[in-house]
Order: sequence, then C-alpha cells, then structure tokens
Amino acid sequence: MRRCTGTASKPSVLIPRAFAAALFATLTTAFAFLPTSVHASGRPEARDPKLEIFSWWTAGGEAEGLAAMFDIYRTKYPTVQIINATVAGGAGSNAKAVLDTRMRGGNPPDSFQVHAGHELIDSWVLEGKMEPITFVFRDNGWLNAFPRDLIDIISWKGEIYSVPVNIHRSNVLWYNKKIFTDNGLVPPTTFDQLVKFCDMLAGKGITPLALGDSGIWASVHLLESVLLATMGPARYKGLWTGSTPWDGGELRTALSRFATLLRYANTDHATLSWDAAAQYVIDGKCAMTVMGDWVEGYFKARGFTPNKEFGWVPFPGTKGTFMMLSDSFGLPRGAPDRDAAVKWLTMCASREGQDAFNPKKGSIPSRTDCNRALYDVYLQSAMDSFRSDTIVPSLTHGAAAAEGWVNQVQDVISLFACDLDVEKATAGLVAAARKYVR
Ligand code: GAL
Repeated sequence: MRRCTGTASKPSVLIPRAFAAALFATLTTAFAFLPTSVHASGRPEARDPKLEIFSWWTAGGEAEGLAAMFDIYRTKYPTVQIINATVAGGAGSNAKAVLDTRMRGGNPPDSFQVHAGHELIDSWVLEGKMEPITFVFRDNGWLNAFPRDLIDIISWKGEIYSVPVNIHRSNVLWYNKKIFTDNGLVPPTTFDQLVKFCDMLAGKGITPLALGDSGIWASVHLLESVLLATMGPARYKGLWTGSTPWDGGELRTALSRFATLLRYANTDHATLSWDAAAQYVIDGKCAMTVMGDWVEGYFKARGFTPNKEFGWVPFPGTKGTFMMLSDSFGLPRGAPDRDAAVKWLTMCASREGQDAFNPKKGSIPSRTDCNRALYDVYLQSAMDSFRSDTIVPSLTHGAAAAEGWVNQVQDVISLFACDLDVEKATAGLVAAARKYVR
C-alpha cells in the first residue's frame, strides 16, 4: 500500500517541491520592490502594463483553457504583457503554499485562481486580503447572469469577492469504453456493483481503478464521493455544518468502502499525478478513474473522445446529486496592476471568456446564458445535471470547508491509506470537525 512502503512516500515527493516553492516565493518577494526600468533622467520610467495571473493550470485541457482566455485578453489589450505564473500540482497542492508566502509577504499577483466558497472567504476575504469586486458585475449588468447560490458563496457582507469562471463536478466515474465493452460491463450504478466489476476486472489482470495521489488530495477526492454515496446529499452536507455527526456508523462504512477501493488501484498511485492516472485510462492500463471533470478536458486534449472512447456516470450511489466546485479569480489588495487585473476579471466574467475557456477546460460555464452549442456531449449532460440535481459542495476543492479543515482531513487520510485503521481515522476526523465546525 502507498506511503507506508517508503518507496514513494509523501514527504519524499513534497518536501523538495515545497522547499523550492518557498524559496521561489521568498526571492520574488525580496526583489519585488526593485524598479523595473529607470529613465536617463534618473526617474523610474512609466512601466508597461503587466498582468500576472497565478494558477495551477499546467495539465492538458486546463492549460489550453487558460491560454484561450489569454488570447482574448491579448486581442483586447495588446499592450498588456501577460505573465502566466503557474505552479504545477493538482488542486493547488503546491501553488497554495507559494501564494500564501507571496500574499503574506506583500507580493500578490494581479489576480489568482481560488475556489469559490470557504477557500476564498475564510483564507483571503476574512483576512482582509481582497478587494470587493461587486462593481465588475454591477457595471456590466451581470448581477443576474450567475446562479444566486454561487454568488452567495463568493460574497461577504453584501459584497462579491471573485469572478467564478466555471463550475466543475467532482463526483464522476470515468471509464474506458473498450475495456467495458470487451468485458461485457455496463456503467455501475451502485457501490456493490462497482466492487463486483472491480473484482471481475482484477481477476482478469486488468487494474480496475486509476488513482494518482502523489498529492493526497486525489485520495480525499475519491473519499468525498464515497461519503456522498454512503450518506446521501442531506447528511453529507450536514458534515460541514455540524448537523451530521462524524462518529456515526455511516462514516465508518464510508471509510471501509474507501479502503476497499484503494485495494483496486494501480500500485504506483502514490507516485502519480491526477493526469498521469488519467493517462492510464486512455492507454487501457486501467479501466476507470474517479476524478473531477477537468479530466474530461485532459482526455480531449489527448484526443480521447467522449462517448466514443470514454464514458462517464455519476459516482455509483450519487445519481441525482452534483458535487460542485468553482474556480474563480479575485482582486488581491495591492495588486501591482489593478487596472489590468480589473480588465482580466471582466473578461473572465464575460460570456466570450467563459465560452472560450470552459469547452477546453472540461467545465461548464458559471454564467447561465452561455452558448450550449459550443459544449460537447459530456458538458451538455453536466449542464443538465447542474440544473436538475441536488447541489452539494466539494470538500477537496474549497467549497465545503475552510482550508485548515481540508488539510486536517488530508492528514488523517494520509495515515489511513497506510494503516486502514477505521477507528483511528474516525477519531482524527471527529477532532478536525470539533475544531472547525461553526
Ligand atoms: C481543482 C481545480 C480544477 C483543476 C484540478 C486539477 O482544484 O478546481 O480546475 O485544476 O484542481 O488540478
């Protein structure tokens, strides 16, 4: 099993990266005050406008989506130099540490990727690090162009603090259609059926589940779907508000089910990123993977076609529920080029920006008035589900709980993945909830 083997433990992967990230951030902060150029008169020259956009979008699909937004921005504002400040690592597993150092060191980028919900509000707005940007929506007549519930989770005390560029779905099981057809499988709809299929595939020497949890977030991503399937939407939501106890039988069942699934994953999962795991499904090395729909962007960027080469189904047991998250961009206080940043945010909120970004990213637009015809068969199905399903927030991707809580759950699950001790993990999760539930 993963981190316990010592071959590819979390520290050996993360410490050098975290160190490099911290060093990078410190150096950037240290030299931030140096003037960019000096005129012959000795006065600093008016510098060309620059736009530094900070994100973790480096993989197939997401990188193309970001580039599509940059293209629109460049066409509109050709004199602004765009700095694409990315820090690789799924779910911001490395980027968030760099951002934290920069923000606390007074060296913010012009705008940065942040999940709508607790990640935005608890980490940055309540810390007084963001400017309200309600005016972007009001001045363009866009206050009603976004779902009310989404506006609510990016707002604080009547002001909006970020622009949501998309809506992602977390609870999706993706499968390789050829493997399913060759083995006479249908998309599983219950947890028991999923386990039965995993067993059958494993018996034939096919690795059932692709997992890439070199960043432990990918395991917690799997767990959140298992929690939802085991508890149902109302009780899953109650975990984050205090109305569902963390020491109940359902939590223990979910942990045992999660442990069962880990047994069917590729043995090298602790060394792989989420996109490398997705590649295993493309290559036919694994039959399925559970990942947010950015994997759809990755598949397409690799020429793997929806409904032809890959299929999808809500994670078994979660049909009718859409576990959501949203990537957004905000305006940090002290953004070096505030004007360029406001133009960026306006483009992110526009229909044009969203329709260029989302079809590549594998997400649906957060605006309600985008052009459906530009979206493929999977994304159109996600749009329909988002409209009709019960919506619940993703833990792993910042919507359900404060980052401190997410990190504590990740720590508990890192240990659990080694010892599979349900009672110990339950105690750890109870302690985390006690600290953070409000
Ligand atoms: C999520 C993010 C997605 C995608 C994914 C993989 O947290 O919301 O947009 O980037 O991580 O890195």
